Amino acid sequence: MKIKKPKYFSSFSLLEKELAKQNYSKIFVLVDSNTRQHCFSKLLSFSKNIIIIEIKPTDEHKNLISCEKIWQTLSAENADRKSVLINIGGGMICDLGGFAASVYKRGIDFMHVPTTSMAMCDAAIGGKTAVNFANAKNIIGTFHQPKQIFICNDFLKSLPKRELISGLAEVMKHALLNNDKKILNQLNEIAVDDLDWKKLVKSSVEYKMKVIEKDFFEQNIRKLLNVGHTFGHAVEAALMHDEKKKLLHGEAVAMGFRFEILLAIIVFDLKLDEANFVLELLDKYFPIIKFSSTEKKKIIALLKADKKNQNGKINFSLFKKIGNAKIDCFVSEEKIEQLLKAF
Ligand SMILES: NC(=O)c1ccc[n+]([C@@H]2O[C@H](COP(=O)([O-])OP(=O)(O)OC[C@H]3O[C@@H](n4cnc5c(N)ncnc54)[C@H](O)[C@@H]3O)[C@@H](O)[C@H]2O)c1
Repeated sequence: MKIKKPKYFSSFSLLEKELAKQNYSKIFVLVDSNTRQHCFSKLLSFSKNIIIIEIKPTDEHKNLISCEKIWQTLSAENADRKSVLINIGGGMICDLGGFAASVYKRGIDFMHVPTTSMAMCDAAIGGKTAVNFANAKNIIGTFHQPKQIFICNDFLKSLPKRELISGLAEVMKHALLNNDKKILNQLNEIAVDDLDWKKLVKSSVEYKMKVIEKDFFEQNIRKLLNVGHTFGHAVEAALMHDEKKKLLHGEAVAMGFRFEILLAIIVFDLKLDEANFVLELLDKYFPIIKFSSTEKKKIIALLKADKKNQNGKINFSLFKKIGNAKIDCFVSEEKIEQLLKAF
């Protein structure tokens, strides 16, 4: 399937001009309170004649209640099929706005202006939209391509450092799947503050585009992009309502990688030097989280409810080696419980 390439902008003013060119009957902009303050406010001339919809930040608000707020505004303002919703924000806003637009009047155009490393490197690319439901991540959603994606690295300047680092989990994922030595060396050798985000974003986007062009609807090789995510999503959901322990998406995915790398050693004899390389890379950027026995139970319950499971077996994508992962690795619940006990 042909996928439109994102457009890159070196400054706010260039992006602003591009957005101002949009020729729709009505332009709606979805933001959260942070992206309204730090990102939308930078796009001064674009800010005229548009309707803003503001949602509270964080993943807790990526839900049907926020969707309803978006749909209420679209209806009240008579949005028609020639209207557009421009999502200015991180993965939360892109997933939420993408979903809301993809089903409103059976689908209106939407565009993404990703403002976090996570959204630039991953969430805004690939046309997966979703909201969380019944305590599970991304359980309601659609595959729907954005009309356009505008990437401007300037937005990363106001992003808190913890959020910036969170996006590295997906950069790592793409570089490990692609065995991209240049990016892996950069991640391994360079200090966090000196990372070249332009290169990291571009390499991640290019790899992900290559995969989704071959398999947009995730019937086959797109499942590779789930490495680290089966366990990661369960961890993210299990801790979501714990104010002290809740994790950013990338931090949860990093825990997912740690668990699934150990699983790959058991299932595929993944070489220990490769496993150690990945684990040390994760340690450079991400905290190691210890789970209580109650949390482990919650994680198991969430893994059992994963949308990819079949016949009571949990479905993982696992590394056989760096640059070679396998999809549809079905592992029994007993094996997972045993490993999690020791984790
Ligand atoms: N659809 C996909 O393919 C895909 C892929 C990866 C992740 N995701 C989803 O993305 C979400 C996580 O995305 P995220 O990590 O971007 O989190 P996020 O969207 O919640 O943003 C993180 C925080 O940063 C703030 N923020 C955003 N941009 C800012 C900026 N430029 N300056 C200052 N503050 C800013 C936000 O308000 C929020 O508080 C999760 O819901 C995850 O499931 C989706």
